[in-house]
Amino acid sequence: MKGILTLGQFIIEKQSDFPYAKGELSRLLRDIGIAAKIVNREVNKAGLMDILGDVGTINIQGESQKKLDVFANEQFIAALKSGGECCIVASEENDEFVYIDGEVSKNAKYIVAMDPLDGSSNIDVNVAVGTIFSIYRRVSTDGKATLEDVLQKGTEQVAAGYIIYGSSTMLVYTTGKGVNGFTLDPSIGEFCLSHPKMKVPDDGVIYSINEGNYVHFPEGVKKYLKYCQVEDEQTSRPYTSRYIGSMVADVHRNMIKGGIFIYPTTSGAPNGKLRLVYECNPMAFIIEQAGGRATDGFNRILDKDVTSLHQRSAIFIGSKNMVLKIEELMQTYSSKTPDEKAEATMEKFGIVGGVD
Ligand code: AHG
Ligand code: MN
Ligand code: MN
Repeated sequence: MKGILTLGQFIIEKQSDFPYAKGELSRLLRDIGIAAKIVNREVNKAGLMDILGDVGTINIQGESQKKLDVFANEQFIAALKSGGECCIVASEENDEFVYIDGEVSKNAKYIVAMDPLDGSSNIDVNVAVGTIFSIYRRVSTDGKATLEDVLQKGTEQVAAGYIIYGSSTMLVYTTGKGVNGFTLDPSIGEFCLSHPKMKVPDDGVIYSINEGNYVHFPEGVKKYLKYCQVEDEQTSRPYTSRYIGSMVADVHRNMIKGGIFIYPTTSGAPNGKLRLVYECNPMAFIIEQAGGRATDGFNRILDKDVTSLHQRSAIFIGSKNMVLKIEELMQTYSSKTPDEKAEATMEKFGIVGGVD
């Protein structure tokens, strides 16, 4: 029997990959692993607890109930605070970034951006959800860290990962030297290395998109969907369609089986729906490190300028050749700016800006 390697042991082993590092990043990853276990415990008993109520409602014990995404946000922030390696958290759940104050975080060098609970609408129906995180090094050199420290390009990430709370719970992360996946063994309460050196297949037969929005898609996406549905023995088409509605779960499946996850611009969301800083960039970093590709149809996700905390982006992510194919169609049939047709539709419905 092969010995197990826990996340903690693995992180310590890998610290020598960064000869000048003093262990802060390792401790930060450890803190995230601890918060993940706490969130996992709550996600797992979601059906048993009165935890599904809206924020602000009071449960039978008179305690205020919290939605799991708020709970997850608090847990991650608390773990990062007590760990002391992070000075700012930027989260989907907070309009502004949050300073991690306190004696231990005073000289902290890292910024964490996160989506504490991804796919949260799936909680009520017992379908996989996730957490996404992204780690940057602080760039400002004195005083308090600033927004400039948060708004770094995806290429500047020093680490990124996701946790999938699924039929089993996994933590998958990269520090820019490949991707490794750990499965939580509930009997010992440890994430154990189960998927070393993950590689996304170059080709796949699964496409993943909310096809209900078809009428609002750019022409290039419509053409790609038709391409997926045409019969062609040589390329194993028609492809299979799978959509969970939790980006983490959809991308995780594609990491293992190959495939493409698409969240394009739509006429109602001309900049896309998903957020660049804590959804697209970390997932793009992971996928690229696993040999896949992530773009918005025209530009590499990791190269995009980041101008605001909750900025949105279209995303085409997964198996390299599938993403290349949709890019080719986007560049042939759609324009970089929202399609004229999309603009016309928006005007017709009086829609201004993005959606939530
Ligand atoms: P979140 O729960 O963090 O708001 O994210 C949900 C996201 C993503 O996980 C998923 O892929 C997508 O929204 C689903 O959107 P649609 O319901 O529009 O398909
Ligand atoms: Mn999300
Ligand atoms: Mn979320």
